[in-house]
Amino acid sequence: MTIFAPNPDATATSTLSSLIRRRRPGFSLEAEFYTDPTVFAADLDAVFGRHWIFVATEAEIAEEGDYVTVTVGKASVIIIRDDDFEIRAFRNVCRHRGARLLNEERGSVGNIVCGYHQWTYSPDGSLLHAKDQPADFDKSCFGLRSVSVRSEGGLIFICLAAEPPNDFDEVSARIEAYLGPHQLTNTKVAAQIDLVEHANWKLVMENNRECYHCEAGHPELTCTFFPTYGHAVEDIPTRLLPAHARYLQAEHDLETACSDRGYPYELIHELTGRPSAFRIQREALDGAGESYTIDGTAASQKLLGDLDTPRLGRLSLHHQPNMWSHFLADHAVVFSALPLDVDRTLVRTTWLVHSDAVEGEDYDLDNLTAVWKMTNAQDAGLCALAQTGVSDPGYLPGPYAPSESDVDDFVTWYIERLSEVVEP
Ligand code: FES
Ligand SMILES: [Fe+2]
Repeated sequence: MTIFAPNPDATATSTLSSLIRRRRPGFSLEAEFYTDPTVFAADLDAVFGRHWIFVATEAEIAEEGDYVTVTVGKASVIIIRDDDFEIRAFRNVCRHRGARLLNEERGSVGNIVCGYHQWTYSPDGSLLHAKDQPADFDKSCFGLRSVSVRSEGGLIFICLAAEPPNDFDEVSARIEAYLGPHQLTNTKVAAQIDLVEHANWKLVMENNRECYHCEAGHPELTCTFFPTYGHAVEDIPTRLLPAHARYLQAEHDLETACSDRGYPYELIHELTGRPSAFRIQREALDGAGESYTIDGTAASQKLLGDLDTPRLGRLSLHHQPNMWSHFLADHAVVFSALPLDVDRTLVRTTWLVHSDAVEGEDYDLDNLTAVWKMTNAQDAGLCALAQTGVSDPGYLPGPYAPSESDVDDFVTWYIERLSEVVEP
């Protein structure tokens, strides 16, 4: 158990435990949660060091030897496909004297060769060569240190803890029933864009967990995203009633399409109260109802998997702590948020299309990526505003609107996680 000592400068920042105790449900967090390096260090330990976090897609490491490296706090992790096609994850640290092994964000290797003294590891992590060692040197004792890794229907998660949360098996099984028809393991990366947002990772996640800001903040997204999202039926403003009527019809059509094909679509909402918390639901899109384009028509003519209709809405998946994603009939767009510093977060967006889809024939890259490129840029601006505001001495936590209940859930989950490791 990690115990965080009280901050010696108690007049400047509150202790973590007192911050946790003072958390007011239904209100945004106090400033220190977004600005204090002590809290950031606690987040890396209690959240990113102990939970399953989303880091990549299988499509990024399609062939043997393909790898990506991800940075989580001070830790660098190699995610690689070995020669038996298994996905492995290792600490990116040489077992000789600790040099960083792979410095690129992605690539392909035969073996992993340390740049310092050329210790050489197989993609399965075993040490193959270590020159000039004594005769009794036992290579089998110096394989790379494994990191827990698993794929959830083509989405790769890692966990840095020695004992990862064991509720992920059950979560995975339920999610894969939804993801199955999209066959993410039979996709390729059409585009991937990294955005460094100038905001604490929690502000990035909170921004994602509500669409209270969508109507004003995302004109391109709301072409296909019903502006009623997040409103309780009784709270829908009069001006949005026509949109609500369209939504009801589109939902009815979607449920029929899913029922006919045996695809699950119902909401599962377990965003609090468990380590591997998540939310999944298939929901209708506005406009043509097919994809995230300005008019809602499919961006790729080659549908994912064996799907036989483009009108399957968006299958949305939210995982605590760091992912959101949308699986459409014609493509998938998945997002990860990784903390870089107390006020900077890497948001990585990956667009996946069918492996056989051909750019320029089946899809136009600009059309495929336009809506979320613009939406991400808008969100980055909003999150930066939020970071500036919570850093201002004038900031006080404010109340969430009813449509921000998933933000409250995210914060509640976060406080639950911190409470597990911080002495009260
Ligand atoms: S530190 Fe890697 S071979 Fe020496
Ligand atoms: Fe947004």
